[in-house]
Amino acid sequence: MVKRAFFLSVVIVVVTCISCKRAEPITGLVADSAMVVSAHPLASKVGVEILKKGGNAVDAAIATQLALAVVFPAAGNIGGGGFMVLRNADGEIAALDFREKAPGTATTTMYLDSAGNVIENLSTAGHLANGVPGAVAGMVEGHKKYGSLPWKDIVQPAINLALNGFALTEREARGLNALKENLLKYNTITPDFLIREQWNTGDTIYWKDLGHTLERIRDDGRAGFYEGKTADDIVAEMQRGKGLITHEDLKNYEAVWRTPITATYKNYRIISMPPSSSGGICLVQLLKSIEPYPINEWGFNSPKTVHLMVEAERRVYADRSKYLGDPDFFEVPVAQLLSETYNRERMKSFNPEKATPSDSVKPGVITGYESEETTHLSVVDKDGNAVSITTTINGWYGNFVVVAGSGFFLNNEMDDFSSKPGVPNMFGVLGGEANKIEPNKRMLSAMTPTIVEKDGKLFMVVGTPGGSTIITSVFQTILNVVEHGMGMQQAVNAGRVHSQWYPDVIAPEYKAISEKDSLKLVSMGHKFNSRRAIGRVDAILVLPNGKLEGGADPRGDDAADGY
Ligand code: DON
Repeated sequence: MVKRAFFLSVVIVVVTCISCKRAEPITGLVADSAMVVSAHPLASKVGVEILKKGGNAVDAAIATQLALAVVFPAAGNIGGGGFMVLRNADGEIAALDFREKAPGTATTTMYLDSAGNVIENLSTAGHLANGVPGAVAGMVEGHKKYGSLPWKDIVQPAINLALNGFALTEREARGLNALKENLLKYNTITPDFLIREQWNTGDTIYWKDLGHTLERIRDDGRAGFYEGKTADDIVAEMQRGKGLITHEDLKNYEAVWRTPITATYKNYRIISMPPSSSGGICLVQLLKSIEPYPINEWGFNSPKTVHLMVEAERRVYADRSKYLGDPDFFEVPVAQLLSETYNRERMKSFNPEKATPSDSVKPGVITGYESEETTHLSVVDKDGNAVSITTTINGWYGNFVVVAGSGFFLNNEMDDFSSKPGVPNMFGVLGGEANKIEPNKRMLSAMTPTIVEKDGKLFMVVGTPGGSTIITSVFQTILNVVEHGMGMQQAVNAGRVHSQWYPDVIAPEYKAISEKDSLKLVSMGHKFNSRRAIGRVDAILVLPNGKLEGGADPRGDDAADGY
């Protein structure tokens, strides 16, 4: 088993965590009727304007997502893909899969050299790293089925931002400055509009080509992206950079409605994303695994609580490596993985006093089974319709390639496949047969857009970026509210602790666990590797008086807006 060396540290490494030094509000924005929480204040504002115009939660979510493609290009996108979970006020639920797909000529061994070793960076940067984008197909499909305002009204605000320009936040300026080297390295035609000696906070940036691409999407819907000039530009980009996406790949891309994952946790009902994301299944497995234990008595991030969560996470991420992949290609044993009996059985080996080394945790045995920089937004409208969207181009600024002439970043989502069994991807997660590369297959995701009901009513809308940490961040945010009695903003601010089977470590954010409690966990056999901020959770909680509390993650520029 190959493991990344930097994960092997046994000591607690003290790292700087910018977010931990900020004065964080304990209570988030409270709105009477409707709310959008997203990764950027301008995008949240666009969503609220759509809601005020009479648009529903789906309209607002799509407008916000398209605005993020402009104002938050590190992760917001039209060149990537994602997932939408929705719950209408009448209780109807749905899940839309607009995850990228491997190009038609992709092969299982495309990232291996002649000796069978994974070639570094090939699946993460440059033209061979991208899957066929699904974002525009997803937005169009979501609007077709559930939208209420005209499509053009929903796309227009993103066009305005792109063509009229907007001021960079400090974080965005820093991001663009850090990006310069990779822009020069991986683009066949340098995107000059993104290159400056130095970007500063408050500088106005324009995305002219992207604005015109969005105009084509406004006027022609999915054909504005998957056909015509945009498609021609993508294919020309592929030909210049030896990428694989063809006109046929683009034309054939379809977003798919899937049956949401649903399960109960005490008097809550979890509604989340099914495969091709692992998010919903793994989240439910974690909740089912810890349900019998009194973690509200044990306390937030106490050694007992952390130990229990980590032990559950080892077992669940081991299952993920074997049983989860694109359901159109691989039979995922959904019912078995979700079953209470199965998860309780998995936890029978849990020792409350001692860590189980990951080497002795294997994927569970399922009887009768033979088959072998992301961003999240949450919306609730005045009628109580709720939408949870997580979307990604994978790494920060995707594969660093800006499609010349069309002006948007492409994803590096191919790295979410398992390039070789036993070799971790950029998030350190392992996979095998279920998630091997095959033509037109969706790569396994960890994205976990989720809606929670309490006693049959809308309770929470939640999700986050963060690669493999997404599942554990959503898990902890839910527990912070339902078990540890926190409000929404407090639950989002609270220190996070991640673990994922391999590497065999607990990865807490700086100060998420006290030194004393860390030492206790070390004495139980746990190893540590502290890390910078984990995730950017954007969530909405329905308060007992019916008002909405936003939780916008202070780890980013995230903002709640509402009325
Ligand atoms: O789908 C996934 O699980 C990953 N591609 C998500 C990547 C991500 O969250 C990066 N953001 N920080």
